[in-house]
Amino acid sequence: MLGAAGLLASAMVLCAYSAKISGVADSDDADVPPGKTMELAQSKLVDTPKYKTWISQGGISTLTMLKLNNKVVLITGLGQTTDSGWGIGAAIAALLAKQGATIFGGNRSLASGERTKSRIEDVGGQCHVQKTDVTDSASVKALVDACMQRHGRIDILINNVGKSEPGCPATMSESTWDAQVDLNLKSVYLTSHYVLPIMQKQDTGGSIVNVSSIAGMRYIGKPQIAYSATKAAIMQFTRATAVMYAAKGVRLNTVVPGLIYTPYTKEMAKRFAPGGDEEEYMRKRDGQVPMGKMGDAWDVANAVLFLASDEAKYITGQELVVDGGITSSTGRV
Ligand SMILES: NC(=O)c1ccc[n+]([C@@H]2O[C@H](COP(=O)([O-])OP(=O)(O)OC[C@H]3O[C@@H](n4cnc5c(N)ncnc54)[C@H](OP(=O)(O)O)[C@@H]3O)[C@@H](O)[C@H]2O)c1
Repeated sequence: MLGAAGLLASAMVLCAYSAKISGVADSDDADVPPGKTMELAQSKLVDTPKYKTWISQGGISTLTMLKLNNKVVLITGLGQTTDSGWGIGAAIAALLAKQGATIFGGNRSLASGERTKSRIEDVGGQCHVQKTDVTDSASVKALVDACMQRHGRIDILINNVGKSEPGCPATMSESTWDAQVDLNLKSVYLTSHYVLPIMQKQDTGGSIVNVSSIAGMRYIGKPQIAYSATKAAIMQFTRATAVMYAAKGVRLNTVVPGLIYTPYTKEMAKRFAPGGDEEEYMRKRDGQVPMGKMGDAWDVANAVLFLASDEAKYITGQELVVDGGITSSTGRV
């Protein structure tokens, strides 16, 4: 293990090295376009013996931090229904692709899945999508099989699909309850059922990140009993499975978003804003957050990236709450 002084010294060597190689790239590679110089310098740096020694001793480098090169990500619900804004699933897929991962996504509507695929490919990422219903076992198996056939491995699984229907136990119909349980919870079981045995067999194991909601931790101001119950269940599903698979090289964690501004939130405002006042609906949501505003899909995607990455290799069975402080507050200031 490196001591603090050793760590600092090594970091300084690394910085000096980086600067030196950056200088070489600047002077030697006149044809390198602006902005590419650092990239080139970094690619040279990671091939040096000093860099390799540093990493082999457990050193951390911002050059490779949170990079997902050669990783295959299976994600559900990456669809994007509109060309403007970003849904959480689409943002997660785009961010993970930007970090070098190959994306294989399942979505109910192929059209919205294809929209995310084009957005990813437009900036040089790799993505394939397949029409999938996450509540249907055969459809989920077909998604997993197709990913294995194409890429031969699954390093990261992101369970993003989820939706809330309003109602308390007395008013919610049995069919709505069942549909919510299938969509929000059974879907997580189904993907895990097919993917865990694959990850367990891989030398490098795997990482699963499930997307829950603070509605699974607190009452957040509107009756949505099935959503609250299923989102809470996802957290315990994740904790218990994380322990069962800890020694098998598979990590599971949950990201817990608070109030997030997405195209779906806009749709909710249209459906639920009292008197149709969508702006007031949004203002009220902003006002619930100690930070004064809703988060966005990238706030959630950044948390997912961290938990999915090798930098989180000793973290399993945990929840990462992304809520601008809501769950730490009594709601009174
Ligand atoms: N938005 C928020 O404020 C918020 C807050 C807390 C937690 N969350 C959680 O974050 C996750 C993402 O939420 P979001 O609002 O941003 O949604 P989203 O990622 O924009 O969209 C959800 C995606 O799931 C797809 N989908 C729906 N049912 C499906 C099914 N049966 N099989 C396969 N795909 C299906 C939808 O497909 P289509 O394109 O066909 O509709 C859509 O592309 C959810 O788990 C949600 O509970 C959201």
